[in-house]
Amino acid sequence: NSRFTVKSFQKAKENKERISMLTAYDYSMAKIVDAGGVDAILVGDSLGMVMQGNDSTLPVTVDQMVYHCRCVSRGVKRAMVVGDMPFLSYQISTEEAVRNAGRLVQEGGADVVKLEGGRDMVPVVRAIIHAQIPVMGHIGLTPQSVNLFGGFKVQGKEEAAARNMIADAQALEEAGVFAIVLESVPEGLAKLITEKVHVPTIGIGAGRCCDGQILVVNDMLGMFDDFVPKFVKQYAHMKESMSGAIAQYVSDVQEQRFPERKNTFTMDDAVLEKLQN
Ligand code: KIV
Ligand code: NA
Repeated sequence: NSRFTVKSFQKAKENKERISMLTAYDYSMAKIVDAGGVDAILVGDSLGMVMQGNDSTLPVTVDQMVYHCRCVSRGVKRAMVVGDMPFLSYQISTEEAVRNAGRLVQEGGADVVKLEGGRDMVPVVRAIIHAQIPVMGHIGLTPQSVNLFGGFKVQGKEEAAARNMIADAQALEEAGVFAIVLESVPEGLAKLITEKVHVPTIGIGAGRCCDGQILVVNDMLGMFDDFVPKFVKQYAHMKESMSGAIAQYVSDVQEQRFPERKNTFTMDDAVLEKLQN
């Protein structure tokens, strides 16, 4: 069970072996996800929504990403840890981008970083790779662009947009990314991009033909079911079992069924007797 690396990503595509990824944001979940055998764990800026309760990823800061990367990397033995670059951490200048990518690695313990965007991001991608930090690309529905897109919508349905996305994928490959996330992209376009680039594509809402898949762990475990997107498969219904357990605890406390004798500490009766006098 050796570490999954950028080399493993390339090998997987060559050998037509699918890559599995999930997100994680904390130590306990990271341990479970890693032990479950996923190849790479993304500390996604989706934590702004899932962990922090915001309605977009825009409020997430570099300090917060460093903190969550550190929590996750401590729990991981085999998977690659991908640190997501948050809004405004790489859009201002290549210098700031390299500094912030470096923080996710140096302080957060991430192995690689991911950032959103296509052709516009080529200089930034090159600069980060120049600093010896591998970069994962992310195109399609890039959530940091939600206000420009006017909502969370499938991207690349029209010819011009689809052509732009193909050009973005090719520019990212040329710039040296080791993989590209395709988010909310029609299956046919995702298939075409997967065939056109030599680095693996990792899909979320991008159909069956990508080289790998990623889901937000809280979605696939059914922990976060306020809204379940079409592309999510719930492999468990954790929210229901958690709610049931908590209701049981509350009634056990109220009815004095918990704690039981086996949950309690004892002391010497003689000492107790002295205390009573
Ligand atoms: O932040 C995130 O969880 C992501 C994935 C959905 C790809 O970027
Ligand atoms: Na993200």
